Amino acid sequence: MRIVSTAEITANEEVASQIFLLTIFEPLIAQSAMPGQFCMIAAMPHGQTTDPLLKRPLSIHSVHNGVLSFLYRRIGHGTTLLSQRKTGECLELIGPLGQGFDLTNDNYVLVGGGMGIAPILFAAEDLYARNKKTVVVLGARNAAELPERVLRPFKAASHALYLLTEDGSLGKKGLVTDDLAEVLQQQKTDAILACGPLPMLSAVNSLAEEFGVSCQVSLEAHMACGIGACLGCALKARDGGYLHVCKDGPVVNARLVHWDL
Ligand SMILES: Cc1cc2nc3c(=O)[nH]c(=O)nc-3n(C[C@H](O)[C@H](O)[C@H](O)COP(=O)(O)OP(=O)(O)OC[C@H]3O[C@@H](n4cnc5c(N)ncnc54)[C@H](O)[C@@H]3O)c2cc1C
Ligand code: FES
Repeated sequence: MRIVSTAEITANEEVASQIFLLTIFEPLIAQSAMPGQFCMIAAMPHGQTTDPLLKRPLSIHSVHNGVLSFLYRRIGHGTTLLSQRKTGECLELIGPLGQGFDLTNDNYVLVGGGMGIAPILFAAEDLYARNKKTVVVLGARNAAELPERVLRPFKAASHALYLLTEDGSLGKKGLVTDDLAEVLQQQKTDAILACGPLPMLSAVNSLAEEFGVSCQVSLEAHMACGIGACLGCALKARDGGYLHVCKDGPVVNARLVHWDL
């Protein structure tokens, strides 16, 4: 069920340089949201201005007591305006949108790289609460991108948490795929859930194929509508057609994606 709502910001804090944690009280969306789904969120308070015209897609990071949280990086016009929003202001949002993760197996490895860690927390919290094996591998450029504030809920919602940074300033120096390969060698895994940049997802898919493990990836594409109307979010599919990320995804079976980047 897709809900269009105007809802109140309960916090919007910079938790690391250029990275913000936004929380919005919206019990109806919170109640129906599934891990891996996203919302289209206006960057300016309802009714104030038409700039920017388009809402921005953000993955649902977590859901607690009717409050939705979103972890986002300030990169352009929309996210800059969003980062300036204050507690108590009301924003229009639409959600929950798209296809979420299939969480029906028992043994999971969840992999998040960069801002791709955002939807991974919601999936980890759901799996861990239902006593499913939840191993999480997170990667970032450096320690500053993975502050304790962001890591704490992952620690609480995983049986094992592997951290990697490109410069070695936190956890092991390397890429998420380094530890993913080790985990897949060591323990029974039914499914991998991954979100991050396309090259990372492609490498995760290669490992999944090598180890014969099913793999779901959360994809990103530029989105105008977020609801399947503009066809602007197309990515090449393996069968020669296209996947529309907002409607067929953002979470898709990795086998459906054309990985020739
Ligand atoms: C399903 C989905 C979930 C996402 N979840 C998150 C998240 O949890 N945290 C996070 O930090 N980012 C997330 N993103 C990326 C985020 O939507 C973009 O960073 C954001 O839209 C940039 O907007 P901007 O106005 O600041 O940037 P600008 O570059 O000024 O944006 C211009 C236009 O391009 C679009 N755009 C730019 N970059 C992207 C992008 N990477 N993906 C989609 N549209 C883009 C914008 O929506 C806007 O319409 C997600 C993207 C998708 C598709
Ligand atoms: S964003 Fe419009 S169809 Fe996907």
